[in-house]
Amino acid sequence: MLDDRVFHLRTQCSSMVVGIGPAGHVEQWWWGAPLDGTAEALGGLVPRWDEVPGLVLTHGHTSDSPLALNRQPLAWSSHGKGDFRQPGIGVVGQRVLDFTHHSHAVVEGVLPSGGLPVADAGPGTQTLDITTRDEVAGLEVTLRFTTFPASGVITRRTLVTNIGHEPIVLDRLASFVMDVPNLGFDVVTLDGWWLSEAHQTRTPLGQQVLTNASVTGASSAAHNPGLLVVESRADDQHGRCLGFNLVYSGSHATTVEGGQWGTVRVVGGPNPIDFAWRLAPGETTESPEAALTFSDQGLNGVRANYGHFVDHCIVPERWRQRPRPVVFNHWEGTYFDYDTDVLLAMAAQAAQLGAEVFVLDDGWFGQRNGPLAGLGDWSVNTDKLAGGLDALARGLAEHGLDLGLWVEPESVNVDSDLYRAHPDWAIAAPGRRPSEGRHQLLLDLTRPEVRDHLVGVLGDVLDSAPISFVKWDMNRLFSDASEPGFHHRYVLGLYEVLGRVFGPRPHLLLETCSSGGNRFDLGMLRFGPQVWASDCTDPFQRLRIQQGHSLFYPASTISAHVSASPNHQTGRVTSVDFRFGVAAPYVLGIELDPATLDPHDRARLAERVAWYRRHREGLQFGRHDHVAPALDGRQRLAVTTPEGVLVAEYGVSPRPGDANGLLQAPRGWPGMVEVEPVFGDKSPFVLPGAALVQGVPTTPLPDGHCHLSMLRPAG
Ligand code: GLA
Repeated sequence: MLDDRVFHLRTQCSSMVVGIGPAGHVEQWWWGAPLDGTAEALGGLVPRWDEVPGLVLTHGHTSDSPLALNRQPLAWSSHGKGDFRQPGIGVVGQRVLDFTHHSHAVVEGVLPSGGLPVADAGPGTQTLDITTRDEVAGLEVTLRFTTFPASGVITRRTLVTNIGHEPIVLDRLASFVMDVPNLGFDVVTLDGWWLSEAHQTRTPLGQQVLTNASVTGASSAAHNPGLLVVESRADDQHGRCLGFNLVYSGSHATTVEGGQWGTVRVVGGPNPIDFAWRLAPGETTESPEAALTFSDQGLNGVRANYGHFVDHCIVPERWRQRPRPVVFNHWEGTYFDYDTDVLLAMAAQAAQLGAEVFVLDDGWFGQRNGPLAGLGDWSVNTDKLAGGLDALARGLAEHGLDLGLWVEPESVNVDSDLYRAHPDWAIAAPGRRPSEGRHQLLLDLTRPEVRDHLVGVLGDVLDSAPISFVKWDMNRLFSDASEPGFHHRYVLGLYEVLGRVFGPRPHLLLETCSSGGNRFDLGMLRFGPQVWASDCTDPFQRLRIQQGHSLFYPASTISAHVSASPNHQTGRVTSVDFRFGVAAPYVLGIELDPATLDPHDRARLAERVAWYRRHREGLQFGRHDHVAPALDGRQRLAVTTPEGVLVAEYGVSPRPGDANGLLQAPRGWPGMVEVEPVFGDKSPFVLPGAALVQGVPTTPLPDGHCHLSMLRPAG
């Protein structure tokens, strides 16, 4: 903070300058490369206007002041006083709102939130609150900025207090509003659906209003809440990029509006379609936290900043920098068709492959022998699992394996004891038959008795056996929620349940899942440090899915399994090496019937997994750089580990003449570099380190093959 009107927020790679404008509005004067912080240096950032151009409204009398909100770069804005861009707040029945500075304060660290997950402080974290008021509307709005200097991230939240005498209803509450100079941008979003999550879409930004939004009730596989605004020339390694993401698991909307007066407005928060909040006089509510980052090092710079932030400030404390185990999941090996003997026979082979945790997936409880029945009844089906979870855990322990458990607590089958006892606990709109997804309904987590039931029943199961890992699934989208604001209250209910179940059990490693990556977001990561990234295990598809997710979520959060060939989702035949090579730079697991592997592949996979276990710390927590593609039909990923830089190259549809390609790395080295092929009988070789950025001709890499090479300074 420089003085009472200028606030300078610094991180290791960026500066954000926020100031109080001539009529008291909170303005956004800079967000970009780090600046010298003197008052003199920053004073030059203040927007200057001499005259009022056509078709703008002045804030007051035109002759008094040329202040026109529509062209001010603002850090908060509302509707009705001449700013015609997307607003940050809406109040039912009051369409004119105008917030001006009232007070401000700076505190060390982060401030807690009532009910929504927020990031933990890192070194040097500070929080700035700028409080504004609209006395006519009887509302106070506090803009909360928190800096995470080591990560290069600044977060924002918005708090609203009713300072009037009547109740009000908010129908829009953004986490942030931000105007930035238009450098000629593209917008990068992660779009897709079941089995095809996180495909990067890059859209040139003209003067349009472009919205990235989910209305499914979850952060969604359709449109992940992470969004980038990047210079049009930016690629993986170069260019200025602005990152926006939400610590939120519900329907969201981030709007990017290009055009007017040379600025771009970005507004993000819960989707107004699914948001409504009643505030009695004196009450306060709060938006989800948004995590913003700037990098002038291209998409990889964003990856590094968000990666550091998630690994150090988002995932539960116990799992920060703690290597994740190799999980074996029997789901694609058995589906619903198993019993204890089948599982233990698989477990023996899984242990030989190098697995450390055996995850008991869907089908272990109630009458759950298929998708039609049993969801909601969280007691062990002892017809299938004689002796229950405890006996299974003992059997697994003989093979050196821990027990992990799949649950889907938010859902219920109509054919279940729970539904028969409490049909009113399922979400349903009055007078309508609720829609089903995968034969299931959702429980109404806005109701305290439903939350209490789940906390009790899950606690009993999780404490009933030596369980070390939980896979929390959620396999449908929302429907039939008729009350305004229901979805937001559901998300709050979900966070309460997760906090009450896992808070007292920090030893449990929680992997979240929603038909794969339908709820891959910072909110869920605050409770569980990894996510089953997709139900698609085809390595070709996974390359794209993992590359997309990794923009916002680091390798340590992306759960990736080696599965069977032909692949169960696409039918594609691939080698065990390619499947391993695609999963290895992330949180590796195995999901197949080991008996179907031929002895040669089984030995190979065991050898590969042993290598992974020796290097996993570097793979899971090292910096991941994608190397912008050369035209040689290969994808490249470089992971900076303590042992060296692991360059993974994947052959993906090379043209016949492309077979000879380039060995490339994101950064060069001053001296000679030794390149050691990780597997195979090829010998190490040396080359000039500086040549790697441009690329050095290397051996052919046909379709579906991969090379892993460890690069280190020679000598
Ligand atoms: C979802 C999950 C899968 C598996 C099945 C079980 O589809 O994403 O990994 O757990 O449910 O029904």
